[in-house]
Amino acid sequence: MTAQLIDGKAFAEGLRERVAELAAAFEAKAGRKAGLAVVLVGEDPASQVYVRSKGKQTVAAGMASFEHKLPAETSEADLLAVVESLNADPAVDGILVQLPLPKHIDEQKVIATISPDKDVDGFHVVNAGRLAVGLPGYVPCTPLGCLMLLKDKLGDLSGLDAVVIGRSNIVGKPMAQLLIAESCTVTVAHSRTKNLPEVVRRADIVIAAVGRPEMVKGDWIKPGATVIDVGINRVPGAEEGKTRLVGDVDFAGASAVAGAITPVPGGVGPMTIAVLLRNTLVSAYRASA
Ligand code: GUN
Repeated sequence: MTAQLIDGKAFAEGLRERVAELAAAFEAKAGRKAGLAVVLVGEDPASQVYVRSKGKQTVAAGMASFEHKLPAETSEADLLAVVESLNADPAVDGILVQLPLPKHIDEQKVIATISPDKDVDGFHVVNAGRLAVGLPGYVPCTPLGCLMLLKDKLGDLSGLDAVVIGRSNIVGKPMAQLLIAESCTVTVAHSRTKNLPEVVRRADIVIAAVGRPEMVKGDWIKPGATVIDVGINRVPGAEEGKTRLVGDVDFAGASAVAGAITPVPGGVGPMTIAVLLRNTLVSAYRASA
């Protein structure tokens, strides 16, 4: 192991502490807590874990948490009505509808119904457009968390070659936009990319966000590169019946070559909720300005 570990868990704790201080200041000034509403439709176990964790961390940061748990059979119209009531509620600064939604509900329609001013996930086309043209808006939490870790480690990113593996609306595309704004030379690779190992080998910064366990190998990494692993994949563990979490990067191989790398767990994962709380507080201050 030659790479330095990028401790996302510690960074996220620091960010949550700063958010908590500013949340207390907001409450003193506005006479109310900043509020985050989380909407969960159905009983997906992974989503239930995330939603519980978001609620706990929201309260721990001194903000109000509003949870709306709806049955899996909820109609699209009923879900849209809940979103509209949250749009109109002055106690709610941020709205997050947990994805994925059940198949009978059109996700894009739901996202389009969230007020762009309360879209703390940054998924609304208005916020995606603002990011694309460099206007202030809400940036999706996971890529913004990755950027914070990169800047903390590397400082100025200008002129660096960055390869983003994955082109999702939630991570890959906004990550590429953020890196372009930092004056990186950005390549977005995906499942149809030819000679992926060769493409990755050019990169000073590698962002892996494909959802395929340990796909990125150590010999794909340029010596000294910074590797950000967004993947959270559950795979069979050493003991029968046990599972373990791995990233999209072969950690053992890559950490022998990279300059710095995020572990899984404890790297990017904890950043997402910390940034969500930050975005909610930003929204609260904007609403009261
Ligand atoms: N499902 C998995 N990650 C996320 C996220 O960041 N936001 C929402 N709304 N749903 C998710």
